[in-house]
Amino acid sequence: MREIVLKTPSCDSVIYCGAGAFDEYAPSVAGEQLFVVTDTNVYELYEKLIKKTFGEKIFVLEAGEESKNPENLLKILRAMLDGGMRRNCRVIAFGGGVVGDIAGLAASLYMRGVRLTQVPTTLLAQVDSSVGGKTAVDMGGVKNILGAFYQPEKVVCDPRFLDTLPEREIKCGLGEIVKYGALDGNIYSKLMDNAGNLAARSFLEDIIYDCVAYKAEVVKKDERDLSGARKALNLGHTTGHAFELYYGGKSHGECVLIGAYYELYIARKYGICGGYYADNLEKLILGVLKAKPVCADADKAAQIAVHDKKNDDENISLIVPEREGVCREIKIGLTEYKTLLAECARAAGGGK
Ligand SMILES: NC(=O)c1ccc[n+]([C@@H]2O[C@H](COP(=O)([O-])OP(=O)(O)OC[C@H]3O[C@@H](n4cnc5c(N)ncnc54)[C@H](O)[C@@H]3O)[C@@H](O)[C@H]2O)c1
Repeated sequence: MREIVLKTPSCDSVIYCGAGAFDEYAPSVAGEQLFVVTDTNVYELYEKLIKKTFGEKIFVLEAGEESKNPENLLKILRAMLDGGMRRNCRVIAFGGGVVGDIAGLAASLYMRGVRLTQVPTTLLAQVDSSVGGKTAVDMGGVKNILGAFYQPEKVVCDPRFLDTLPEREIKCGLGEIVKYGALDGNIYSKLMDNAGNLAARSFLEDIIYDCVAYKAEVVKKDERDLSGARKALNLGHTTGHAFELYYGGKSHGECVLIGAYYELYIARKYGICGGYYADNLEKLILGVLKAKPVCADADKAAQIAVHDKKNDDENISLIVPEREGVCREIKIGLTEYKTLLAECARAAGGGK
């Protein structure tokens, strides 16, 4: 197990990464007043462990993104109040990104903020959502529209939880890992060296640490997403979020990869990224996706991207890969964006 300390103006967040992290962390909360938030799938698998480690004050959300809503947020807060939670209590977010985001927001609101531990149980939550303090719920069909920056005091990234994760969720986490590969040369090299075997447990254990360490460095420089450093983490996300809404049923990480595929096409078109590097990145993306991402109506997907909160004017803002370990932000007009998405969709074998 390795430790990363993420120092921000709000607090020092300690992240434990690796096999044994959970067992090492668990005794440290004995005697504290604890409130666990989890979801139905995770509870079914880990009820015994949760109860033995953290006690009986548990709120179980229905699994799925639809649960990340203001009504459930209020239900969690109400249950904390009814359960007699005091200012020195600790919220344990035990689950994937959905649980982490809503429980984190609840922890930030209850009595103006109580201690928070994230125990991420999906690959995506381990490499991304549990670290950095972004918490949120969705409202009115808009993702993450209500939220706060609230750093967890502790994050426990133990790969043991990946053993029960369905393949689809591993793929979802790999989506974010490939994103880190486009941002960081070291992660990129490791991905290239293990391209045929990215889902292997030993590889994942190692790469989770690298991704978390990378994200922690970025968050340290720009905790509240103000200076631009944190923007880079949005590679693939503008188009990815649009595809998430467009397709409906695909996972966040998979859509990030689809977004990265389309945005790589755009970077190539503008001459920003090319040669072996662009070819290799495309192979990495397709290696995880398994097939070229088809989009039957690129106009519709592009129209959704207009509403992305990362755009600060009428242009579409994208973080695109440039060369190994280097990305840059570009802004393009909607008409141009639509044309390029449609071109890429046709090249992928679909589109009008
Ligand atoms: N806060 C951030 O910085 C940030 C970053 C990226 C994504 N997110 C958010 O994270 C969410 C997506 O997270 P996610 O992909 O973890 O989704 P999720 O929380 O919905 O989990 C995916 C599925 O895996 C199940 N699951 C979780 N752990 C399991 C385990 N160990 N074994 C078996 N099944 C398990 C869940 O019940 C669920 O069905 C989105 O809401 C997204 O907006 C937040």
